Formats: sequence, structure tokens, C-alpha cells
Amino acid sequence: MAAEKLIQEWWLEPNQGDASLEEDHVDFWQDVLNNVIDQSLTHKNVLDFGCNRGGLLKMLHETFSLNKGVGVDIAQESINVANSRIQNEPIKYLALTDLSQFQEEFDIAISTAVIYLIQDIKNHAQQIYGALKPNGVYYVTHPDYTQSAGGKVLMEEIKKFSATEVATNTLDDIANAFEEVGFQVSIKKMQPSRYFSHTKHSTWYRSIYDCIHHEYNERYVFKLVKL
Ligand SMILES: C[S@@+](CC[C@H](N)C(=O)[O-])C[C@H]1O[C@@H](n2cnc3c(N)ncnc32)[C@H](O)[C@@H]1O
Repeated sequence: MAAEKLIQEWWLEPNQGDASLEEDHVDFWQDVLNNVIDQSLTHKNVLDFGCNRGGLLKMLHETFSLNKGVGVDIAQESINVANSRIQNEPIKYLALTDLSQFQEEFDIAISTAVIYLIQDIKNHAQQIYGALKPNGVYYVTHPDYTQSAGGKVLMEEIKKFSATEVATNTLDDIANAFEEVGFQVSIKKMQPSRYFSHTKHSTWYRSIYDCIHHEYNERYVFKLVKL
């Protein structure tokens, strides 16, 4: 990760940019609230890694009343948008390429749909380890695109407009890297509670079976506890 560079926006589709990503993810964040967070975050220090325009952290604060929220991302323009929307929340957003400035600062870290873009998982695990307090928890949602034909279609579609490389780490690669660094690793499937809209001739899936298969069978959540 230290080799990462700052970018402007992550989603490079013309006339879309990261605004479209945010629109698409609002329902997904509701699933994150329902499905991923299994403890109160009230009065906690929370890091959102790969926060983009920052909407999830705001939702977490509205729901739990955080002590402090920090969102980080390599996409400078999206971080600017996130900062321009801060009201009275105890939140800040930073454009950065590594987490070395944070030492045992957070009770909770979260990343939603980011780890599939991280090539060097062990380095990422070490950085999160350093940023978390002892017994801190890192929740990671991971849309695994590596295992099915439908997943590979999605991965190719993302590669068309993603400003960063898409990684191909398997669940085992991710789990083993975090365990080696000193996390207790557990995992579950992410159960969606929303409807998925269908578009005939979508470039994202060959048939609606692929869409449903991916949403129900290939989305995971890691719960990683710093020992
Ligand atoms: C698919 S988007 C997900 C954004 C957000 N977490 C959400 O749920 O909407 C992936 C985000 O990860 C960011 N990202 C990719 N690699 C990163 C890295 N090494 N460090 C920090 N952010 C990164 C991208 O800039 C982008 O904002």
C-alpha cells in the first residue's frame, strides 16, 4: 500500500465518476448496518478505510453517535466532497496512501467493497493492525469476483472504469494474511435484504441468475479481531 498514489476519483466512467458509485451504494450501506455491525459503535472511534465520498461514516454516526469518525481514501476529489458535507459531526476525511499516522487510535475499522482492490493484503493487514486499539475489530465486506463465471463478468466490467487494479486474492489469501499478522479471523456470507433491479442487456451480468447468485452466494463479511 505504501506504493499507492493518490488519484482524483476512483470510478472513471465518463459523466459518472464517484457520484454514481455513491448512488449505487446507499442501499448496500443499509445492508452493512443490518448485517455487518454486530455491536454498538456508540462513543467509539471508527475508521472507514476506502470511504470515497464518506456517506457510510455519516450513516454510522447518525445510527450510533460515534466519538470520532475518520474516513480515508486515495481519491482526493471524493475526499474533498466528503469534507465539504461535514456538518456538526465529529468526523474528518483524509486523502492518504498509508495509515502510519494512526497508532492504536481506533476501536473499530470498516471497509466496504475495498479489499478486492488491495494487492498486498499482508501490508494492509499490518497497517490496520497498527491503527487499531488492542481488541479492536475490523469489519470487511468482500464481493468475491474470483470464483464464478458471473463474478468474472463483474470483475471485467469494474476493470473498464476502475482507477486502480482489481486484485484476485481468494478468501483463503485474505484470511491467512490477517491471521499471520495477529488477527482472529471469522467470516460469514452477507445476506442482502433489498431487491435488485433488473436491466435487460445489462453489461454487469449475463442473466439475472448470475446477479442473484453473486448477491446471495459470493458476498462475504470478515470480522477480524486484533489479538
Ligand atoms: C468500490 S469503492 C467503495 C467505496 C465505499 N467504501 C463504498 O462502500 O461505497 C472502492 C474505494 O476504495 C478506494 N481505494 C482503493 N484502493 C485504496 C487504497 N489502497 N487505500 C485507500 N482507499 C483505496 C477507492 O478510491 C474507492 O473510493
